[in-house]
Amino acid sequence: MRPPGEMAIRMHSYACNFRKGTHFMTTYNVGLLVGSISSTSINRRLASALVKLAPQAGLTLTEIPIVGLPFYSSDHDAAIPAEAAEFKGAIESSDAILIVTPEYNRSIPGVLKNALDTASRPWGQNSFAAKPSAVIGASVGAIGTAVAQQHLRSILSFLASPELAQPEAYIQLREGLITDSGEVTDESTAEFLLSWLKAVHAHIAKTLSPAV
Ligand SMILES: Cc1cc2nc3c(=O)[nH]c(=O)nc-3n(C[C@H](O)[C@H](O)[C@H](O)COP(=O)(O)O)c2cc1C
Repeated sequence: MRPPGEMAIRMHSYACNFRKGTHFMTTYNVGLLVGSISSTSINRRLASALVKLAPQAGLTLTEIPIVGLPFYSSDHDAAIPAEAAEFKGAIESSDAILIVTPEYNRSIPGVLKNALDTASRPWGQNSFAAKPSAVIGASVGAIGTAVAQQHLRSILSFLASPELAQPEAYIQLREGLITDSGEVTDESTAEFLLSWLKAVHAHIAKTLSPAV
């Protein structure tokens, strides 16, 4: 008889195992969405830091670009534009999705909402269905994207994407905290980001291979 969870494991067979201490740990391929298209984006800096830290948490982060996506319209449902089809395919072939978002006017940026709408359609072909996800964001303000993340969680919930609930990660990005190349200059921030990525790993493992 097939052991429980085998199907999930087989569907993600391209994830590989590596030895960490005395345990084998699966490396998950995670698609990364950055919700800002600004050339000076602080969220892109945060994303770069996460990309660098991710291997220590058993994750490989690969950006799935959103900047070239056409505006979603149901007119496209019958013949999906090539950029949208490629975007949906990249989400579907990832083990999980990590979203780094700014807060714009107490919500998420329009470019990110457009990407999520694109992924969600045509009806019945929601690329986020059952796909584990996690959200994080950086702001210059004190509440560090908390309101935007609540909106994002609401959308992901509707898309049936199991999200990492805790720990939450609201980053107030003061000047110099993360360099342009993604080096975290403050040790406690680097430790927090790594521990958060390890929680993302545990969330993916639990979602894809739930215990019986
Ligand atoms: C249109 C717009 C709306 C903004 N609204 C908020 C907001 O609601 N909350 C907040 O903390 N910061 C807000 N900001 C400031 C952003 O946190 C800041 O511009 C940040 O650098 C944006 O992230 P990014 O650099 O990754 O694009 C806003 C900025 C813009 C351009």
